[in-house]
Amino acid sequence: AADGVRPRPGWVRPAWPRTAGHRPPSPPARYDFQVGVPDVRLFPYDTWRRLVAAAWRAGREPGDHADPAGHPDLRAAIARYVAYARSVRAAASDVVVTSGAQQAFDLVARVLVGPGDVVAVEEPGYPPARDAFVAHGARVVGVPVDAGGLEVSRLPPRARLVYVTPSHQFPLGTAMSLPRRLELLAWADANDAAIVEDDYDAEYRFADRPLEPLHGLGSG
Ligand SMILES: Cc1ncc(COP(=O)(O)O)c(C=O)c1O
Repeated sequence: AADGVRPRPGWVRPAWPRTAGHRPPSPPARYDFQVGVPDVRLFPYDTWRRLVAAAWRAGREPGDHADPAGHPDLRAAIARYVAYARSVRAAASDVVVTSGAQQAFDLVARVLVGPGDVVAVEEPGYPPARDAFVAHGARVVGVPVDAGGLEVSRLPPRARLVYVTPSHQFPLGTAMSLPRRLELLAWADANDAAIVEDDYDAEYRFADRPLEPLHGLGSG
């Protein structure tokens, strides 16, 4: 970071670069509870290498400027995956591949958020998402979260956009209840607001079957 620039208190990135082969300072923790740090030893590198080599041999990689929305085969595979894993109805053309969630928040904000617009986020919530909306001039308002998820009755009426993590609330880990999901969708309809559903960690479940994403429950 530039001199004098400090990360926000309360959101501190891992202290070491996330590059392969780089290890945390010794002694290594027996159980590492840091957020957002996967165990890269579990990645199937051999399979990955084989598949990448096969794709290159088959000459299926574009040699010039590729579509900025992502590789067509990847977009189609993601559309298939979210259909069976999350009941999301999407064609490949609906999928935009980004380099991480932050770029996705930025693109959403460019389209939907203007200076002074009210954006509602969960409190506690995911600070980098809040920062992306602030960077586009939004007035970000934190809305409390209880055991059922974001308290819809406490949303500011003028919110243009609501950012939520219904599958796995960040940082509390709870799932938004079905009644609360329906309440949020009805609220957004009535107030002409958009919902950004960050389907964060939907694959991690401690019990029961997953709940329908807001995307599948809503009318669009
Ligand atoms: C709520 C939430 N959304 C999205 C992400 C994914 O972020 P990225 O794609 O930048 O790794 C994280 C990662 O910690 C997260 O906590």
